[in-house]
Amino acid sequence: MDRLAEKVVVISGAARGQGEAEARLFVAEGARVLLGDVLDAEGEAVAASLGERAAYAHLDVSSEADWGAAVALALDRFGRIDALVNNAGVMQVAPIASCSKRDFERVLEVNLVGAFLGIRAVMDPMSAGGGGSIVNVSSVSGYASVPGQAAYSASKFGLRGLTKTAAVELGSLGIRVNSIHPGVIETPMIQAPELSDVDWEGIVGNLPLGRSGQPEDIARMALFLCSDEASYSTGAEFLADGGLLASP
Ligand SMILES: NC(=O)c1ccc[n+]([C@@H]2O[C@H](COP(=O)([O-])OP(=O)(O)OC[C@H]3O[C@@H](n4cnc5c(N)ncnc54)[C@H](O)[C@@H]3O)[C@@H](O)[C@H]2O)c1
Repeated sequence: MDRLAEKVVVISGAARGQGEAEARLFVAEGARVLLGDVLDAEGEAVAASLGERAAYAHLDVSSEADWGAAVALALDRFGRIDALVNNAGVMQVAPIASCSKRDFERVLEVNLVGAFLGIRAVMDPMSAGGGGSIVNVSSVSGYASVPGQAAYSASKFGLRGLTKTAAVELGSLGIRVNSIHPGVIETPMIQAPELSDVDWEGIVGNLPLGRSGQPEDIARMALFLCSDEASYSTGAEFLADGGLLASP
């Protein structure tokens, strides 16, 4: 399959979970992929398993310098950048009363500022190559929240505004910008110790589709948005939540 033939895609947070699934699917669909993450050993291993069509860069998305180096590596290795998936994210669970200012800021720095820096880092090379696609990974937490998610939910709501502003600013450069909103997806993020008392089976069992999402469910949506198949979509929000937000 060649749905991303000739395209070069940068994916943040690609060492595991949804980002890894996207890297694997995109390479299988003909893309060359620059994987970025802070988990260097895991990221290097994923890239190595994908062969010559993949490369890894240490990329803390909250660092402008790291973005500069990752974009430079993508251009050096692959010659162009056609798509960016701002996938990197951190979850934090803390009631507002016990959430420190620093902890709140750190979630925003990674989940929201990181995506902003990524957009800024790729827009010139993307525009020089004739345009492209940017996908920001938000969440169902960008529409509604639960106790303990002040920072996480604020970051994911924020991504919706960032996506729309980027879409209206970059459309004339031929760059489309959309957001993805996953529901409960089986990745290390939901296996974190602070979420150990969440009844995931009960939650997903009540969904219209009656199951949790797999990383590949989201990777296929990201694939569509990065490909030319999504040529008339920009500033839009794409849910993949098994019907979670449609349920009472
Ligand atoms: N798993 C879910 O249920 C779910 C639901 C909705 C949205 N999301 C979002 O999907 C995205 C992918 O998450 P996942 O489910 O694959 O979780 P994950 O924890 O498996 O993957 C997140 C990746 O981001 C990386 N990362 C963390 N901080 C980083 C930083 N500063 N710079 C670069 N990389 C960093 C991690 O090392 C990890 O590889 C996240 O944005 C997350 O918020 C997840």
